[in-house]
Amino acid sequence: MKKILILINGLLILLSFSCNTKKEQTPINTKSDTLNSVHSITLQRMEPYFLEQEGRDLFLQNCTSCHTSRYIFMQPDFPRKTWQAEVTKMIEKFHAPIEPDNAKKIVDYLTKIKGK
Ligand code: HEC
Repeated sequence: MKKILILINGLLILLSFSCNTKKEQTPINTKSDTLNSVHSITLQRMEPYFLEQEGRDLFLQNCTSCHTSRYIFMQPDFPRKTWQAEVTKMIEKFHAPIEPDNAKKIVDYLTKIKGK
């Protein structure tokens, strides 16, 4: 009885090995490696409401990561001190990581394009 069990066991092991070797995985498409690689495209950034002026890049980098630029262009024209307060609020209240030097340039930019 013990011998028969051992024999059956051996047969099962052999069977499972032979099954495994038969299951060779064939890649879906070996010829075209473009199918298996990651692609990305960069969409052009359109910000027609924000005039090309000094400080524009800094503004876009620092002020559009938490919300869209719509938050800014839907505001009325503000005097400089209101823009200053707005930028300070973003930094102090919402923890926008903006260097003081850059904050000043952004306020300059905002006052230039949406100041009064
Ligand atoms: C760390 C995230 C963050 C960054 C970066 C950020 N903001 Fe904001 N901003 C907020 C939040 C949060 C609100 C409030 C959203 C709400 O009330 O629905 C807000 C609201 C605003 C508003 C609407 C008026 C108000 O005070 O609620 C303006 C204008 C604004 N942000 C301008 C800016 C400008 C300019 C910059 C760049 C200097 C900037 N934000 C960067 C988080 C940020």
